[in-house]
Amino acid sequence: MRSRNVPWLVCLLMAGMLVGCGGGGAGLPSASVPSSTFDSGPETTRTLPLGRGINLGNMLEAPMEGAWGFSVQQAFFPIIKGKGFDTVRIPANFAAHAASSEPYTVDPIFMSRVATVLDWAFQQNLNVMLDFHGYQELCDAPLAQEARFLALWAQIADRFKDAPDRLYLELLNEPNGNLNSELWNRILAKAVGVVRAVDARHTLVIGGTNWNSAYALKDLQLPPGESKVIATFHFYSPFTFTHQGAEWVTPILPTGISWPGPNVQGACKAITDELEVALAWSRANGNIPLFMGEFGAYSKGDLQSRANWTAYVRKQAEQRGCSWAYWEFCAGFGAYDTGTGYWNQALAGALGVP
Ligand code: BGC
Repeated sequence: MRSRNVPWLVCLLMAGMLVGCGGGGAGLPSASVPSSTFDSGPETTRTLPLGRGINLGNMLEAPMEGAWGFSVQQAFFPIIKGKGFDTVRIPANFAAHAASSEPYTVDPIFMSRVATVLDWAFQQNLNVMLDFHGYQELCDAPLAQEARFLALWAQIADRFKDAPDRLYLELLNEPNGNLNSELWNRILAKAVGVVRAVDARHTLVIGGTNWNSAYALKDLQLPPGESKVIATFHFYSPFTFTHQGAEWVTPILPTGISWPGPNVQGACKAITDELEVALAWSRANGNIPLFMGEFGAYSKGDLQSRANWTAYVRKQAEQRGCSWAYWEFCAGFGAYDTGTGYWNQALAGALGVP
């Protein structure tokens, strides 16, 4: 499911968002972006363990691969590696390709397809995050779907247990709705047990509720004694900017919203405040590594603003030790155009891979 309702809090915040950090200086490091009055600051270094990544969105998490306009191609991986990315996050909707009754068998054709895609990425020495994406039925009816979720993970873990160490397993993209923190903590603990029963080696990636909000990390209970875990959060604030005109958001948000807007200081502070929430939580929890698994601004916003925002969020995340994956490669947020075979220079520059 791609639909997403605008959180009411976002609506309230949006009015106050466009108010004042004194930017100024040069534009972004990209030839095709006009210089702006906004300076996203000096370049930062890559952060471990995953460095700089990109999501292969709208492909394997569609109901059928290709239904949302894109299929994974082997050629994508050398293009991504050659540009300087370290990691690909691969959203895959296993629930859309599995039986609805016991033993909830995953379609072997889909499982093989995922394995093929992972191999293409490994051949390029990319880190691969396999993300169980789009299981909205679990978010809508957690208790009814729990057994199925666990059964799916038993199959996924078994299928990929011998993959290279650079495979990372993300239990569930964006828990939301009825999958509240209490239920998610209980179910994720069981899912970790299911994976660990067959695979003690690969690092797990786990985020909080409310669509992997940084603010929900405080309610996340990671399995005690589990050392191979990365905590993930997604960053789309201000939502009214990043999702302007997005067709899957109800109601559709007005376009014409720029970033940082007139109040540069306020716009920047809103972003660093949210990132600090994630960082503070990490520090309070033994410096658990943080991964910003999705961030991006939809193509209905103006390119200069998208590049400003992307560079700022990316650098501020790196300064706080977060590795990240941009949302996404070649669809509506796309940094790459499969039609022309060119990277979007503005976005690539903003991502530090000019
Ligand atoms: C969803 C995508 C959506 C993106 C930004 C992802 O988690 O699966 O469909 O485009 O978030 O809203």
